[in-house]
Amino acid sequence: MTTIPTIDIVDALAAEYADKSPNEIIELALSQEGEIAISFSGAEDVVLIDMASHLGKPFRVFSLDTGRLHAETYQFIDAVRKHYNIDIEICFPETEAIQQLVTEKGFFSFYQDDHKECCGIRKVQPLRKKLATLDGWITGQRKDQSPGTRNDIPVVQADPGFSGPGKQLIKYNPLANWSSADVWNYIRLMEIPYNPLHERGFISIGCEPCTRPVLPNQHEREGRWWWEDATHKECGLHAGNLKK
Ligand code: ADX
Ligand code: SF4
Repeated sequence: MTTIPTIDIVDALAAEYADKSPNEIIELALSQEGEIAISFSGAEDVVLIDMASHLGKPFRVFSLDTGRLHAETYQFIDAVRKHYNIDIEICFPETEAIQQLVTEKGFFSFYQDDHKECCGIRKVQPLRKKLATLDGWITGQRKDQSPGTRNDIPVVQADPGFSGPGKQLIKYNPLANWSSADVWNYIRLMEIPYNPLHERGFISIGCEPCTRPVLPNQHEREGRWWWEDATHKECGLHAGNLKK
């Protein structure tokens, strides 16, 4: 077990692991001292869980239930739970904050106000609470996923959004250099579960009211928050990707 890396060590690891395989990066993450967990969104990042399960090291998985996911996504999360015989730690939004939002603004305020307020309550605050209990997290972010925001993500980084003065959180992005095609080749080759919405034209899957299928040759990100500026589509989970 290696100790929690300091900031200069993280930069050195990012350089050393830049061209290594997702497996090697997950192995590095799971060898880190402290509490590490995979952040699983119920889309195609089941690949992370599959790779971790083959390494033979203990690993944790959490998922943010915004309350607005598709029925298919809930079924898929449960299918993954059973397939790997693992617990998936489900994180919920604070009741009072969400009650106040929908009481004052209704269930679809994001179409008028933009998605930040709702994502802040349903995703970012629960993520912040979960990350406060962790020393590192593993995400399924890829460079090719979001033009303008994810092009430069390293495979290992000091978390730019959730590290605090007293705490450095390490963020691992083992699939950073993989394309969507790489992910789907892996899913088919390993015959692992996937969200059935992918069979209906969905690529990037988030909450039901903010996700739609895309047409041939549309970028996957065009299926998310399609009514907003195309180049800044981050909901706050990975807000550190946005250039200041
Ligand atoms: S988002 O910020 O736009 O919603 P995206 O759907 O691209 O993120 O997923 C990128 C990575 O963020 C996923 O691979 C996963 O690690 C994490 N993630 C996204 N949504 C969730 C969620 N609901 N629960 C846990 N992790 C999530
Ligand atoms: Fe709310 Fe849409 Fe964000 Fe989900 S993606 S938390 S429904 S604004």
